[in-house]
Amino acid sequence: MTDAPSFYEQIGGHDTFVRLVDVFYAGVAADPVLKPMYPDEDMAGAHERLTMFLEQYWGGPSTYSEQRGHPRLRMRHMPFHVDPDARDRWLAHMRAAVDALQLSPIHEATLWDYLDRAAHAMVNTFEPSGIGPAAGGRPAL
Ligand code: HEM
Repeated sequence: MTDAPSFYEQIGGHDTFVRLVDVFYAGVAADPVLKPMYPDEDMAGAHERLTMFLEQYWGGPSTYSEQRGHPRLRMRHMPFHVDPDARDRWLAHMRAAVDALQLSPIHEATLWDYLDRAAHAMVNTFEPSGIGPAAGGRPAL
């Protein structure tokens, strides 16, 4: 291996991403708007999916795509009411999680810039919750 280490490796690999997602979901668990969107019965699965996705995105193992296929993140978020309030809450919990990692300024800025842009791209409604097909928490499947 002569390649330069990936961003994934530079910031500490699997343990770093597990910590990021753990701190993030601790915030989500206490959030009255976000918590109802997530599957009570499968929070371990939700942890795993976000960890695998972020690891793959930053040059770690490609387990996410092996298990879940193409990410298609905007499409996968369509069932949820992602309005600016939900986005800002998601970002606030992610901010706390990134801070907990105590990365170098350049790594911190690189990671945060991506998360901030991705969260803005995930917004799929400007309607108040309660209106439209994606209203409320998880859809009844
Ligand atoms: C902007 C606010 C956001 C909200 C409210 C939100 C909410 C959710 C919810 C409720 C789920 C379902 C949990 C599960 O069962 O896996 C989910 C899944 C997921 N989210 Fe988000 N999300 C947001 C932004 C993002 C962003 C910015 C990313 C990526 C950087 C992301 C990555 C993912 C991934 C990878 C999954 C699992 C997809 C799958 O394979 O099924 N989300 N999100």
